[in-house]
Amino acid sequence: MALAPTTSSPSKRKIILDCDPGHDDAVAMILAAGNPNIELLGVTTIGGNHTLPKVTRNAQIVSTICGIEAPIHAGCSRPLVREVTIAEGIHGDTGMEIHGYDLPDPAVEVQDMHAVDFIIKTVMEAEPNTVTLVPTGPLTNIAMAVRKEPRLAERVKEVVLMGGGYHTGNWSAVAEFNIKVDPEAAHIVFNEPWKVTMVGLDLTHQALATPDVEAKVKAIGSSPADFVVGLFGAFRKNYKDAQGFDNPPVHDPCAVAYLIDPTVMTTVKAPVDVELNGALTTGMTVADFRAPAPADCHTQVAVKLDADKFWSLVIDAVKAVS
Ligand code: BDR
Ligand code: CA
Repeated sequence: MALAPTTSSPSKRKIILDCDPGHDDAVAMILAAGNPNIELLGVTTIGGNHTLPKVTRNAQIVSTICGIEAPIHAGCSRPLVREVTIAEGIHGDTGMEIHGYDLPDPAVEVQDMHAVDFIIKTVMEAEPNTVTLVPTGPLTNIAMAVRKEPRLAERVKEVVLMGGGYHTGNWSAVAEFNIKVDPEAAHIVFNEPWKVTMVGLDLTHQALATPDVEAKVKAIGSSPADFVVGLFGAFRKNYKDAQGFDNPPVHDPCAVAYLIDPTVMTTVKAPVDVELNGALTTGMTVADFRAPAPADCHTQVAVKLDADKFWSLVIDAVKAVS
């Protein structure tokens, strides 16, 4: 079933999802498209979990399976300064390896406009403070956009990103993948004066796709639900092999969930900066929890997830796109 594009309403959160599908990015797309309180203005893609052509094709495939009609715009293929890094060990050689589900060929177009220009145009044409950016991949597109159009920093409502962590890393002892791939871009994003919510690993490692969650999704009995079950299957194996998780952490939809219902997680105001030059710590997000947070602190960090509430939102969205 094709979902009609979400109708514009002042009460819906207007978002641009900047992603690199990616298993969990795919679930973030579904949550954004399937929740009635979100207006998904566009899906922009960024090289990350795999190369830009592959993650863009994956975004097209997710939209094809789930009837998502938000426009797809491809963005940057490499980080600002560093070489391309991909996460094939987690996401497989297509960037969205799947078990037990045959992916269709994409039946959804990619738009001509570059993602960076789409982000700028969309934000600048909307009422001020109405569009939220939700990056769930490396931050290159977002950094490029705010450098090209500095007024974005005051015009965007907020940035809610999946990336970083304050106690743990996954791409080094202290750095998370999305930040480690393009730390210079992350440095720009955290240092602009807009409001930034960091939904990092400390939070997303609480969003585990347990057998109970999988069973609930499977019970929906639709093609999008079977697709998600297939994603969880591959993610489960790869996360076990690569990082020793019994149940895979489904990171990216957590950022979308926060915008649907902020009570799904607890956040703490704290300055955050990104390490660029550490011998061991490049790409670390350094959060300063010393109280009180300075009056001009514009960053907050997600610390505790209500996992039941989170999974209910995801499951309802899978039903809605079914
Ligand atoms: C992040 O890295 C990617 O592999 C996932 O899609 C997620 O955005 C987790 O570190
Ligand atoms: Ca991602």
